[in-house]
Amino acid sequence: MNGEPVDEGGNGMQNEPVVRLQGVSKIISSRSLVSDLTLDISPGQVFGFLGPNGAGKTTTIRMMVGLMSISKGDILISGHSVKTEFEKAIAEVGAIVENPEMYKFLTGYQNLVHFARMSPGITKERIAETIERVGLTARIHDKVKTYSLGMRQRLGVAQAILHKPKLLVLDEPTNGLDPQGIRELRDYLRQLTREEGITVFVSSHLLSEMELMCDTVAIIQNGKLIDVRNLRQEAGADAQIEVAFEVNNAQRAAELIPGATIQGSNIVISVSREQIPELNARLVHEGLQVYGIRNVTHTLEDQFLQMTGGGGIG
Ligand SMILES: Nc1ncnc2c1ncn2[C@@H]1O[C@H](COP(=O)(O)OP(=O)(O)O)[C@@H](O)[C@H]1O
Ligand SMILES: [Mg+2]
Repeated sequence: MNGEPVDEGGNGMQNEPVVRLQGVSKIISSRSLVSDLTLDISPGQVFGFLGPNGAGKTTTIRMMVGLMSISKGDILISGHSVKTEFEKAIAEVGAIVENPEMYKFLTGYQNLVHFARMSPGITKERIAETIERVGLTARIHDKVKTYSLGMRQRLGVAQAILHKPKLLVLDEPTNGLDPQGIRELRDYLRQLTREEGITVFVSSHLLSEMELMCDTVAIIQNGKLIDVRNLRQEAGADAQIEVAFEVNNAQRAAELIPGATIQGSNIVISVSREQIPELNARLVHEGLQVYGIRNVTHTLEDQFLQMTGGGGIG
């Protein structure tokens, strides 16, 4: 640690969205690649941008980091417009969009030192801290050409966060990684949000990875935002979930529980998790046989499969 206070801008607005997409569109030769994306991303989380190939993820990311112009709308990073205050906006961003520039015949450490020279005020201590953050300590003095894909990516992330950006953007970071590598990526991204207070924006076409990795997932298809889900909140005690009670007399059960609908031998009701035992007790108390209680909330997977026609999403 170098003891530097994290710059909060002194305005007490820690919960200001790190990223605001405001009606963002990308139109190339009269074709809309991205249409009217509006989305706020609050700080301190791993945010997933999920969509099938060709959905517009990379296009959006390229606009976020200034590699492509924004046709309509604007993107604010920590309150700074990418369109009108690009320098200020981009100063808050670290990103791996294409392959990060690295010198294969230098060590990881030499690469970081070289890279640090391009950014003012990066101390040796900061470099050491960053190496630890991405878990490269043991191999940092080996040449990059001996690194696995996962290790090169860690080095890329280290480069991207050296200057302590508020936002780290990774385009399909799990591509090409083996399951072990994916797991490690997940762990150190999570650690980064905790220890550096950084917000991580990752894209992927794989739902299962996003579910494990992210706190919030936005789903994009054909350049349009379909849904945004807070995965953490849904696990919360007061979140509403759909529950099916399988009983011997659904008609009678539905009379006992207002709002329930009958589905065959089940009644289905939207409740909080805490209400479930109470409803069960009511049914049992009235002499009904309860054979089973199941959570039938539509999962992200249901929705994603519906959206992509139930076919492959690759
Ligand atoms: N520079 C470009 N010119 C024209 N079309 C493009 C360009 N870049 C991407 N596209 C098209 O835009 C759509 C979205 O692409 P992309 O953002 O790469 O999707 P994703 O990253 O979600 O797979 C695709 O149909 C792609 O062919
Ligand atoms: Mg892409």
